Amino acid sequence: MEPTAPITTRIRGIARLWDGARVHRDVSLLIRGGRCLEIAGPDDTDGGGDDGGEYEDIDADGLIAMPGLIDCHTHSTFAGSRVADFVNRLGGTSYTSLLEGGGGIHTTVQSTRMSTTDELTLLTSSRLEQMLTHGVTTVEVKSGYGLDLKTERRMIEAARASSGPVEVLTTFLAHVLPRGRDRVEYMRELLDVNLPALAPLVSAADVYCDDGAFTLAETDAILSRAKALGLGLHVHAEQVAYTGAAALAAHYGALSADHLERIDAAGINAMAKAGTVAVLLPGAMLYLKDIAPPVAALRAAGVPLAVATDFNPGSSPITNLWSAATLACLTMGLSVEEALAGITRNAARALGRPDLGWLGRGSAADFALFAPPIGEPPSVEVLLQYLGGTQAEQVWKAGQRVL
Ligand code: NIG
Ligand code: FE
Repeated sequence: MEPTAPITTRIRGIARLWDGARVHRDVSLLIRGGRCLEIAGPDDTDGGGDDGGEYEDIDADGLIAMPGLIDCHTHSTFAGSRVADFVNRLGGTSYTSLLEGGGGIHTTVQSTRMSTTDELTLLTSSRLEQMLTHGVTTVEVKSGYGLDLKTERRMIEAARASSGPVEVLTTFLAHVLPRGRDRVEYMRELLDVNLPALAPLVSAADVYCDDGAFTLAETDAILSRAKALGLGLHVHAEQVAYTGAAALAAHYGALSADHLERIDAAGINAMAKAGTVAVLLPGAMLYLKDIAPPVAALRAAGVPLAVATDFNPGSSPITNLWSAATLACLTMGLSVEEALAGITRNAARALGRPDLGWLGRGSAADFALFAPPIGEPPSVEVLLQYLGGTQAEQVWKAGQRVL
């Protein structure tokens, strides 16, 4: 990071600004040294500049400002194609039967193992670049298509090396058991070798607890070890089968439990008590033709709701976080405010990064400016109304214009 410049940048004429909790009208955003100084009113010409520093004005006439969007659950590092799965599933084959037959996730494991780290880095960078065009400035990227130590490490290194302004947070994912490996022996290797070796390279660990993946007892052992290693915790929970993984995640103080289509009352109460964020993944729900998670019950219990793409080639080939947010409204019943918080403030919370996902005095100067769709008046709601239609006019990360 460069030394802090004394110059204050004033983004003027913003028609609407959503600060993470509410909408402001006709404001300027003042930033300096990678941080937000303040959200100033239209007539407040010298706000934040009492120290006599210089100003640089940027014209945002009629645009809509959002905190930099945060995609808190993705599998963006992978190689190969899963188009055959897509076609087979349309023909009626189930996700789990493909997985248990050695296809599904295992197909991507094979192609990822065969790729070089440079290839994986390039693929990840290109995908993140595409996400940036929608105003996304922070992306969580999981491992889990290597399954052996060598490839898991290469995946994590590739995600960390991805070029470009998008901030990447990496998560070690215990995804499925590798084909042909003894369960007990692989679990021992995962706990005693892979997790300790990779912990210094990631900020969190995640387990896919489900039919065809890890059992609840195995998930318990992995979460316990990951917690002892100081990692943040996430769980793919209650997606295809109900397992009790959400309550287990809460018990370990997990940052998030994700999917949750089949969560029960006990899981919801445990999450509410622990402050574990529910990460809703409407892309996977749609592609697997699944039921919606019980959003009304999660809301009533006070569980914070986040929304992510779950971008992966199998169950959610979606890179556009706005589309995920719109789908969360349409298919899961989120309100506009919940969807907006879900891709900003609560997504930051799901990543253990309360410094991100909001705008105001002292926040990160991560934000994006959007034009309303053609013919529409500027409003924050309209960005959600048009499915997949929102490309950012400008994106700023840590006070620098990056798009
Ligand atoms: O979050 N459900 C398990 N894992 C991913 C899917 C990964 C894949 O199918 O490649 C998910 O949906
Ligand atoms: Fe996932």
